[in-house]
Amino acid sequence: MSKKELRIGLVGYGFMGRTHSNAYKRVGDFFPDLQYRPVLKAVSARNAERLEAFAKQWGYESFETDWRKMVQRTDIDAIDICTPNDKHAEIAIAAAEAGKMVLCEKPLARTVAEAQPMVDAVEKAGVANTVWYNYRRIPAVTLAKQLIDAGKLGKIFHYRANFLQDWTISPELPQGGEGLWRLDDNAAGSGVTGDLLAHCIDTAMWLNGGIKDVSAVTETFIKERVHTASGKKQKVGIDDACIFHCHFDNGSLGLFESTRYARGHKALYTFEINGQHASIKWNLHDLNRLEYFDHRDDSLERGWRSIHVTDGDMPYMDKWWVPGLSVGYEHSFVHQMADFLQSLEENKPCSPTFREAQETQKVCEAVLASAASKSWKETGTSWPG
Ligand SMILES: NC(=O)c1ccc[n+]([C@@H]2O[C@H](COP(=O)([O-])OP(=O)(O)OC[C@H]3O[C@@H](n4cnc5c(N)ncnc54)[C@H](O)[C@@H]3O)[C@@H](O)[C@H]2O)c1
Repeated sequence: MSKKELRIGLVGYGFMGRTHSNAYKRVGDFFPDLQYRPVLKAVSARNAERLEAFAKQWGYESFETDWRKMVQRTDIDAIDICTPNDKHAEIAIAAAEAGKMVLCEKPLARTVAEAQPMVDAVEKAGVANTVWYNYRRIPAVTLAKQLIDAGKLGKIFHYRANFLQDWTISPELPQGGEGLWRLDDNAAGSGVTGDLLAHCIDTAMWLNGGIKDVSAVTETFIKERVHTASGKKQKVGIDDACIFHCHFDNGSLGLFESTRYARGHKALYTFEINGQHASIKWNLHDLNRLEYFDHRDDSLERGWRSIHVTDGDMPYMDKWWVPGLSVGYEHSFVHQMADFLQSLEENKPCSPTFREAQETQKVCEAVLASAASKSWKETGTSWPG
Protein backbone atom coordinates (compact mmCIF):
# COMPACT_ATOMS: atom_id res chain seq x y z
CA MET A 1 0.00 0.00 0.00
CA SER A 2 1.51 3.35 -0.93
CA LYS A 3 1.35 5.82 1.94
CA LYS A 4 0.11 9.40 1.89
CA GLU A 5 2.77 11.91 2.86
CA LEU A 6 2.28 14.31 5.75
CA ARG A 7 4.98 16.91 5.10
CA ILE A 8 6.09 18.44 8.40
CA GLY A 9 7.49 21.91 9.06
CA LEU A 10 8.89 22.04 12.60
CA VAL A 11 9.48 25.35 14.40
CA GLY A 12 12.06 25.14 17.21
CA TYR A 13 14.79 22.54 17.63
CA GLY A 14 15.12 22.47 21.43
CA PHE A 15 13.89 19.84 23.87
CA MET A 16 10.49 19.39 22.22
CA GLY A 17 11.88 19.75 18.70
CA ARG A 18 13.86 16.59 19.47
CA THR A 19 11.01 14.60 21.04
CA HIS A 20 8.71 15.40 18.11
CA SER A 21 11.37 14.63 15.50
CA ASN A 22 11.90 11.28 17.18
CA ALA A 23 8.14 10.64 17.06
CA TYR A 24 7.94 11.46 13.33
CA LYS A 25 10.81 9.11 12.59
CA ARG A 26 9.59 6.19 14.72
CA VAL A 27 5.84 6.22 14.22
CA GLY A 28 5.77 4.48 10.83
CA ASP A 29 8.05 1.68 12.01
CA PHE A 30 5.90 0.79 15.00
CA PHE A 31 2.43 1.68 13.64
CA PRO A 32 2.85 0.20 10.15
CA ASP A 33 -0.86 0.11 9.34
CA LEU A 34 -1.24 3.89 9.31
CA GLN A 35 -2.02 5.33 5.89
CA TYR A 36 -0.04 8.53 6.48
CA ARG A 37 3.74 8.78 6.65
CA PRO A 38 5.38 11.90 8.18
CA VAL A 39 8.08 13.43 5.99
CA LEU A 40 10.63 15.71 7.69
CA LYS A 41 10.38 18.48 5.12
CA ALA A 42 11.76 21.53 6.93
CA VAL A 43 12.80 22.89 10.31
CA SER A 44 12.93 26.51 11.37
CA ALA A 45 14.71 28.52 14.08
CA ARG A 46 16.87 31.65 14.05
CA ASN A 47 20.47 30.41 14.26
CA ALA A 48 21.42 29.14 10.78
CA GLU A 49 24.48 27.20 11.89
CA ARG A 50 22.74 25.27 14.64
CA LEU A 51 19.67 24.83 12.46
CA GLU A 52 21.69 23.24 9.68
CA ALA A 53 23.37 20.89 12.15
CA PHE A 54 19.98 19.89 13.59
CA ALA A 55 18.47 19.38 10.13
CA LYS A 56 21.41 17.15 9.17
CA GLN A 57 21.34 15.15 12.40
CA TRP A 58 17.62 14.42 12.31
CA GLY A 59 17.22 14.12 8.53
CA TYR A 60 15.17 17.24 7.67
CA GLU A 61 15.30 17.94 3.93
CA SER A 62 15.67 21.71 4.35
CA PHE A 63 15.68 24.56 6.86
CA GLU A 64 14.41 28.14 7.10
CA THR A 65 15.71 30.83 9.45
CA ASP A 66 12.35 32.61 9.26
CA TRP A 67 9.33 30.50 10.24
CA ARG A 68 7.09 32.81 8.13
CA LYS A 69 8.76 31.51 4.96
CA MET A 70 8.23 27.95 6.05
CA VAL A 71 4.55 28.57 6.79
CA GLN A 72 4.06 29.91 3.25
CA ARG A 73 5.76 26.97 1.52
CA THR A 74 3.43 24.90 -0.66
CA ASP A 75 5.37 21.67 -0.02
CA ILE A 76 4.42 21.58 3.67
CA ASP A 77 1.15 20.19 5.07
CA ALA A 78 1.53 20.64 8.84
CA ILE A 79 3.30 23.15 11.08
CA ASP A 80 4.52 21.84 14.43
CA ILE A 81 5.19 24.57 17.02
CA CYS A 82 7.97 23.80 19.52
CA THR A 83 8.91 27.36 20.45
CA PRO A 84 8.55 29.18 23.78
CA ASN A 85 4.96 30.04 24.67
CA ASP A 86 5.03 33.67 23.49
CA LYS A 87 5.45 32.56 19.87
CA HIS A 88 2.67 29.95 19.76
CA ALA A 89 -0.19 32.28 18.82
CA GLU A 90 1.50 34.18 16.02
CA ILE A 91 2.82 31.03 14.35
CA ALA A 92 -0.38 28.99 14.80
CA ILE A 93 -2.62 31.71 13.38
CA ALA A 94 -0.32 32.28 10.38
CA ALA A 95 -0.15 28.53 9.75
CA ALA A 96 -3.93 28.08 9.93
CA GLU A 97 -4.48 31.05 7.62
CA ALA A 98 -2.05 29.43 5.16
CA GLY A 99 -4.23 26.30 5.28
CA LYS A 100 -1.75 24.17 7.22
CA MET A 101 -2.62 21.66 9.91
CA VAL A 102 -1.26 22.87 13.24
CA LEU A 103 0.30 20.86 16.05
CA CYS A 104 1.18 23.07 18.99
CA GLU A 105 3.13 22.47 22.17
CA LYS A 106 1.43 23.17 25.48
CA PRO A 107 0.32 25.43 27.02
CA LEU A 108 -1.67 26.58 24.00
CA ALA A 109 -0.78 30.21 24.78
CA ARG A 110 0.11 32.53 27.66
CA THR A 111 -3.48 33.58 28.38
CA VAL A 112 -7.05 32.73 27.48
CA ALA A 113 -7.30 35.92 25.43
CA GLU A 114 -4.20 35.01 23.45
CA ALA A 115 -5.44 31.45 22.86
CA GLN A 116 -8.93 32.39 21.63
CA PRO A 117 -7.88 33.66 18.17
CA MET A 118 -5.81 30.48 17.79
CA VAL A 119 -8.92 28.36 18.36
CA ASP A 120 -10.88 30.61 16.00
CA ALA A 121 -8.16 30.45 13.31
CA VAL A 122 -7.91 26.64 13.14
CA GLU A 123 -11.70 26.25 13.25
CA LYS A 124 -12.27 28.91 10.58
CA ALA A 125 -9.66 27.32 8.32
CA GLY A 126 -11.03 23.84 9.07
CA VAL A 127 -7.52 22.46 9.58
CA ALA A 128 -6.61 19.49 11.76
CA ASN A 129 -5.10 20.58 15.07
CA THR A 130 -3.81 19.11 18.30
CA VAL A 131 -1.92 20.23 21.42
CA TRP A 132 0.89 18.06 22.77
CA TYR A 133 -0.48 17.17 26.21
CA ASN A 134 1.48 13.99 25.79
CA TYR A 135 1.04 12.44 29.25
CA ARG A 136 -2.41 11.18 28.26
CA ARG A 137 -0.65 8.79 25.90
CA ILE A 138 1.56 7.05 28.44
CA PRO A 139 0.03 3.55 28.40
CA ALA A 140 -0.53 3.42 32.18
CA VAL A 141 -2.32 6.80 32.08
CA THR A 142 -4.47 5.67 29.15
CA LEU A 143 -5.27 2.51 31.12
CA ALA A 144 -6.38 4.70 34.05
CA LYS A 145 -8.81 6.40 31.65
CA GLN A 146 -10.16 3.03 30.51
CA LEU A 147 -10.69 1.84 34.10
CA ILE A 148 -12.49 5.06 35.06
CA ASP A 149 -14.66 5.03 31.93
CA ALA A 150 -15.54 1.38 32.60
CA GLY A 151 -16.89 2.49 36.00
CA LYS A 152 -14.33 0.50 38.04
CA LEU A 153 -13.83 3.32 40.52
CA GLY A 154 -17.52 4.17 40.91
CA LYS A 155 -18.35 7.67 42.04
CA ILE A 156 -15.13 9.71 42.33
CA PHE A 157 -14.50 11.68 45.51
CA HIS A 158 -10.91 12.88 45.28
CA TYR A 159 -8.37 13.81 42.58
CA ARG A 160 -4.85 14.65 43.77
CA ALA A 161 -1.93 15.63 41.56
CA ASN A 162 1.61 16.94 42.05
CA PHE A 163 4.31 18.05 39.63
CA LEU A 164 7.53 18.62 41.53
CA GLN A 165 10.93 19.81 40.29
CA ASP A 166 14.00 21.41 41.89
CA TRP A 167 15.94 23.11 39.10
CA THR A 168 15.40 26.83 39.82
CA ILE A 169 16.51 27.03 43.46
CA SER A 170 19.77 28.87 42.67
CA PRO A 171 19.34 32.69 42.62
CA GLU A 172 22.24 32.79 40.11
CA LEU A 173 20.07 31.28 37.38
CA PRO A 174 19.15 34.03 34.89
CA GLN A 175 15.76 34.52 33.26
CA GLY A 176 15.46 34.44 29.45
CA GLY A 177 17.19 32.38 26.74
CA GLU A 178 17.02 28.74 25.74
CA GLY A 179 15.28 26.62 28.36
CA LEU A 180 15.46 29.55 30.83
CA TRP A 181 12.71 31.48 29.00
CA ARG A 182 10.51 29.57 31.49
CA LEU A 183 11.63 32.00 34.21
CA ASP A 184 10.63 35.06 32.13
CA ASP A 185 6.89 35.75 32.47
CA ASN A 186 6.81 37.62 29.19
CA ALA A 187 7.99 34.53 27.28
CA ALA A 188 6.27 31.90 29.42
CA GLY A 189 3.05 33.62 30.50
CA SER A 190 3.34 32.10 33.97
CA GLY A 191 5.61 29.82 35.96
CA VAL A 192 4.72 26.36 37.20
CA THR A 193 1.01 26.97 36.56
CA GLY A 194 1.28 27.13 32.77
CA ASP A 195 4.34 24.91 32.51
CA LEU A 196 3.59 22.01 34.86
CA LEU A 197 0.10 22.32 36.32
CA ALA A 198 -1.27 22.70 32.78
CA HIS A 199 -0.27 19.05 32.24
CA CYS A 200 -1.90 18.01 35.53
CA ILE A 201 -5.08 19.93 34.67
CA ASP A 202 -5.33 18.47 31.16
CA THR A 203 -4.93 14.92 32.50
CA ALA A 204 -7.34 15.64 35.38
CA MET A 205 -10.14 16.94 33.17
CA TRP A 206 -9.61 14.12 30.69
CA LEU A 207 -9.91 11.55 33.49
CA ASN A 208 -12.39 13.22 35.81
CA GLY A 209 -14.28 15.91 33.86
CA GLY A 210 -14.45 19.69 34.07
CA ILE A 211 -13.12 21.83 36.91
CA LYS A 212 -15.77 24.22 38.22
CA ASP A 213 -13.94 26.59 40.57
CA VAL A 214 -10.53 26.99 42.18
CA SER A 215 -8.81 28.52 45.19
CA ALA A 216 -5.06 28.96 44.87
CA VAL A 217 -1.88 30.27 46.44
CA THR A 218 1.28 31.00 44.50
CA GLU A 219 4.74 32.10 45.60
CA THR A 220 7.75 33.61 43.87
CA PHE A 221 10.66 32.67 46.12
CA ILE A 222 13.34 34.51 44.16
CA LYS A 223 12.10 38.01 43.43
CA GLU A 224 14.82 39.25 41.05
CA ARG A 225 17.03 37.54 38.50
CA VAL A 226 19.40 38.78 35.81
CA HIS A 227 17.66 38.88 32.44
CA THR A 228 19.78 37.45 29.62
CA ALA A 229 18.50 40.13 27.20
CA SER A 230 19.39 43.21 29.32
CA GLY A 231 22.19 41.72 31.44
CA LYS A 232 20.50 43.43 34.41
CA LYS A 233 18.58 42.21 37.43
CA GLN A 234 14.86 42.38 36.77
CA LYS A 235 11.76 41.54 38.73
CA VAL A 236 10.70 37.90 38.41
CA GLY A 237 7.08 37.72 37.28
CA ILE A 238 6.48 33.98 37.31
CA ASP A 239 5.02 31.76 40.03
CA ASP A 240 7.77 29.48 41.40
CA ALA A 241 5.22 27.36 43.26
CA CYS A 242 1.45 26.96 43.14
CA ILE A 243 -1.03 25.02 45.25
CA PHE A 244 -4.72 24.96 44.45
CA HIS A 245 -7.81 23.08 45.42
CA CYS A 246 -10.98 22.89 43.39
CA HIS A 247 -14.41 21.39 42.78
CA PHE A 248 -14.87 19.22 39.72
CA ASP A 249 -18.21 19.33 37.87
CA ASN A 250 -18.91 15.77 39.11
CA GLY A 251 -18.75 16.92 42.74
CA SER A 252 -15.32 15.51 43.55
CA LEU A 253 -12.60 17.58 45.23
CA GLY A 254 -9.23 18.25 43.62
CA LEU A 255 -5.89 19.12 45.21
CA PHE A 256 -2.94 20.16 43.04
CA GLU A 257 0.62 21.24 43.84
CA SER A 258 3.53 22.22 41.66
CA THR A 259 6.90 23.72 42.45
CA ARG A 260 10.44 23.98 41.11
CA TYR A 261 11.75 24.15 44.70
CA ALA A 262 11.21 20.56 45.90
CA ARG A 263 14.84 19.52 46.40
CA GLY A 264 15.38 15.97 45.21
CA HIS A 265 12.53 15.87 42.72
CA LYS A 266 13.35 16.28 39.02
CA ALA A 267 10.04 15.69 37.25
CA LEU A 268 7.81 13.94 39.75
CA TYR A 269 4.37 14.05 38.18
CA THR A 270 1.94 11.98 40.26
CA PHE A 271 -1.80 11.59 40.50
CA GLU A 272 -4.13 9.61 42.74
CA ILE A 273 -7.88 9.21 42.29
CA ASN A 274 -10.15 7.84 45.03
CA GLY A 275 -13.55 6.45 44.09
CA GLN A 276 -16.36 4.72 45.89
CA HIS A 277 -15.12 1.22 44.96
CA ALA A 278 -11.51 1.66 43.98
CA SER A 279 -8.50 3.97 43.82
CA ILE A 280 -5.71 4.37 41.29
CA LYS A 281 -2.37 6.14 41.42
CA TRP A 282 0.43 6.80 38.98
CA ASN A 283 3.85 8.40 39.01
CA LEU A 284 6.04 9.55 36.13
CA HIS A 285 9.23 8.18 37.69
CA ASP A 286 7.76 4.66 37.40
CA LEU A 287 5.63 5.35 34.36
CA ASN A 288 4.93 1.77 33.27
CA ARG A 289 3.07 0.97 36.49
CA LEU A 290 -0.49 1.78 37.53
CA GLU A 291 -1.33 1.16 41.18
CA TYR A 292 -4.87 -0.10 41.74
CA PHE A 293 -6.84 -0.85 44.91
CA ASP A 294 -10.30 -2.42 44.70
CA HIS A 295 -12.40 -2.61 47.86
CA ARG A 296 -14.58 -5.29 46.20
CA ASP A 297 -11.70 -7.81 46.35
CA ASP A 298 -11.93 -10.62 48.90
CA SER A 299 -10.98 -9.03 52.22
CA LEU A 300 -8.15 -11.51 52.87
CA GLU A 301 -6.50 -10.66 49.55
CA ARG A 302 -7.38 -6.99 49.41
CA GLY A 303 -4.52 -4.55 48.87
CA TRP A 304 -2.79 -2.30 46.35
CA ARG A 305 -1.90 -4.07 43.11
CA SER A 306 0.92 -2.81 40.98
CA ILE A 307 -0.11 -3.34 37.36
CA HIS A 308 2.87 -3.47 35.00
CA VAL A 309 1.32 -1.93 31.90
CA THR A 310 3.29 -3.86 29.30
CA ASP A 311 0.96 -6.63 28.10
CA GLY A 312 -0.19 -6.69 24.49
CA ASP A 313 -3.85 -6.05 25.39
CA MET A 314 -2.93 -2.87 27.27
CA PRO A 315 -3.09 0.55 25.55
CA TYR A 316 -0.54 0.93 22.71
CA MET A 317 1.55 -2.00 24.01
CA ASP A 318 0.79 -4.40 21.13
CA LYS A 319 2.90 -2.03 19.01
CA TRP A 320 6.10 -2.40 21.02
CA TRP A 321 8.14 -5.28 22.41
CA VAL A 322 6.98 -8.37 24.30
CA PRO A 323 5.04 -8.45 27.60
CA GLY A 324 7.15 -7.34 30.55
CA LEU A 325 9.34 -4.93 28.57
CA SER A 326 8.93 -1.24 29.30
CA VAL A 327 8.44 1.88 27.23
CA GLY A 328 9.51 5.42 28.15
CA TYR A 329 8.75 9.13 28.04
CA GLU A 330 9.44 9.45 24.31
CA HIS A 331 6.78 6.88 23.46
CA SER A 332 4.01 9.24 24.62
CA PHE A 333 4.93 11.52 21.70
CA VAL A 334 5.05 8.62 19.24
CA HIS A 335 1.58 7.61 20.44
CA GLN A 336 0.21 11.13 20.01
CA MET A 337 1.58 11.25 16.48
CA ALA A 338 0.07 7.83 15.73
CA ASP A 339 -3.29 9.04 17.03
CA PHE A 340 -3.00 12.24 15.00
CA LEU A 341 -2.31 10.27 11.80
CA GLN A 342 -5.18 7.91 12.60
CA SER A 343 -7.48 10.89 13.14
CA LEU A 344 -6.60 12.17 9.65
CA GLU A 345 -7.57 8.80 8.16
CA GLU A 346 -10.88 8.89 10.00
CA ASN A 347 -11.45 12.61 9.50
CA LYS A 348 -11.97 13.02 13.25
CA PRO A 349 -10.43 15.51 15.73
CA CYS A 350 -7.28 14.46 17.58
CA SER A 351 -7.79 15.23 21.24
CA PRO A 352 -6.80 17.52 22.85
CA THR A 353 -7.70 19.95 20.10
CA PHE A 354 -7.03 23.68 20.40
CA ARG A 355 -10.59 24.08 21.68
CA GLU A 356 -10.04 21.51 24.45
CA ALA A 357 -6.65 22.96 25.35
CA GLN A 358 -8.34 26.34 25.72
CA GLU A 359 -10.34 24.83 28.61
CA THR A 360 -7.08 23.97 30.39
CA GLN A 361 -5.97 27.54 29.72
CA LYS A 362 -9.13 28.80 31.46
CA VAL A 363 -8.37 26.76 34.57
CA CYS A 364 -4.76 28.02 34.64
CA GLU A 365 -5.98 31.58 34.37
CA ALA A 366 -8.56 31.11 37.13
CA VAL A 367 -5.81 29.62 39.35
CA LEU A 368 -3.56 32.65 38.85
CA ALA A 369 -6.47 35.08 39.34
CA SER A 370 -7.50 33.28 42.52
CA ALA A 371 -3.98 33.49 43.95
CA ALA A 372 -3.70 37.19 43.05
CA SER A 373 -7.06 38.08 44.61
CA LYS A 374 -6.96 35.55 47.48
CA SER A 375 -10.47 34.41 46.58
CA TRP A 376 -12.30 31.53 44.89
CA LYS A 377 -12.68 31.86 41.10
CA GLU A 378 -15.09 30.17 38.72
CA THR A 379 -13.16 28.69 35.79
CA GLY A 380 -15.92 29.15 33.21
CA THR A 381 -14.91 25.86 31.57
CA SER A 382 -17.29 23.68 29.61
CA TRP A 383 -15.33 20.45 29.38
CA PRO A 384 -14.63 18.93 26.86
CA GLY A 385 -14.65 22.30 25.14
N1 LIG B 1 4.74 18.34 26.24
C1 LIG B 1 5.70 18.46 27.14
O1 LIG B 1 5.84 17.64 28.02
C2 LIG B 1 6.63 19.64 27.08
C3 LIG B 1 7.90 19.55 27.67
C4 LIG B 1 8.77 20.64 27.53
C5 LIG B 1 8.36 21.77 26.85
N2 LIG B 1 7.10 21.83 26.33
C6 LIG B 1 6.66 23.03 25.59
O2 LIG B 1 7.35 23.05 24.33
C7 LIG B 1 7.66 24.38 23.95
C8 LIG B 1 9.16 24.50 23.74
O3 LIG B 1 9.84 24.12 24.92
P1 LIG B 1 11.32 23.52 24.89
O4 LIG B 1 11.58 22.90 26.21
O5 LIG B 1 11.48 22.68 23.68
O6 LIG B 1 12.16 24.86 24.75
P2 LIG B 1 13.67 25.04 24.27
O7 LIG B 1 14.14 26.31 24.87
O8 LIG B 1 14.44 23.78 24.50
O9 LIG B 1 13.52 25.21 22.68
C9 LIG B 1 12.83 26.30 22.12
C10 LIG B 1 13.17 26.39 20.66
O10 LIG B 1 12.43 27.47 20.07
C11 LIG B 1 13.30 28.19 19.21
N3 LIG B 1 12.79 29.56 19.06
C12 LIG B 1 12.64 30.51 20.00
N4 LIG B 1 12.14 31.64 19.44
C13 LIG B 1 11.96 31.38 18.13
C14 LIG B 1 11.49 32.14 17.02
N5 LIG B 1 11.12 33.41 17.18
N6 LIG B 1 11.46 31.55 15.79
C15 LIG B 1 11.84 30.28 15.64
N7 LIG B 1 12.31 29.51 16.65
C16 LIG B 1 12.37 30.06 17.87
C17 LIG B 1 14.65 28.13 19.93
O11 LIG B 1 15.70 28.39 19.04
C18 LIG B 1 14.66 26.68 20.39
O12 LIG B 1 15.08 25.83 19.35
C19 LIG B 1 7.11 25.27 25.07
O13 LIG B 1 5.85 25.74 24.71
C20 LIG B 1 7.01 24.34 26.26
O14 LIG B 1 6.01 24.72 27.19
C21 LIG B 1 6.25 20.79 26.42
